[in-house]
Amino acid sequence: MSERFHDITLTVNGEAVHEHVDARKTLVDFLRENLALTGSHVGCEHGVCGACTVRVDGVVVRGCLMLAVQCDGARVETIEGIADSNEIADLQQAFIARNALQCGFCTPGMLLTAQELLRAGGVPSRETIRTHLSGNYCRCTGYQAIIDAVEAVAQARASD
Ligand code: FES
Ligand code: FES
Repeated sequence: MSERFHDITLTVNGEAVHEHVDARKTLVDFLRENLALTGSHVGCEHGVCGACTVRVDGVVVRGCLMLAVQCDGARVETIEGIADSNEIADLQQAFIARNALQCGFCTPGMLLTAQELLRAGGVPSRETIRTHLSGNYCRCTGYQAIIDAVEAVAQARASD
């Protein structure tokens, strides 16, 4: 019978992490429960809502669809680390200025997914922004303010 628990080594927000984890534990549960990084949220738990969005090796993924053991050797970045680095300070400010968040449950995932689009450069159309964020659900804002905020940041970055 194969082992249920495994030793994994990874970096999370630049810090080395060594843990002994259940093979069935999802990445988002691992981040929240083992490392107390609760900025990544758990919503649908089956890849639909985007609340659990994090980056693994530079790529945005759903933390509920990935197992912690799959991240052995990986570089994981969460909203905490990305916010602390100031990479998305302008997006955070724009969300606040335009009321693009209310309860905030979706916001970490929205910010990381928006940043994924904006890192590609240029000023995407509102339709492109809407499509890119379509896998992130918000139950509060009606989305218009979120699109406004992302568009404003794209324009501001392009004019810098
Ligand atoms: S909790 Fe992962 S996509 Fe909804
Ligand atoms: S701000 Fe509440 S779910 Fe988006």
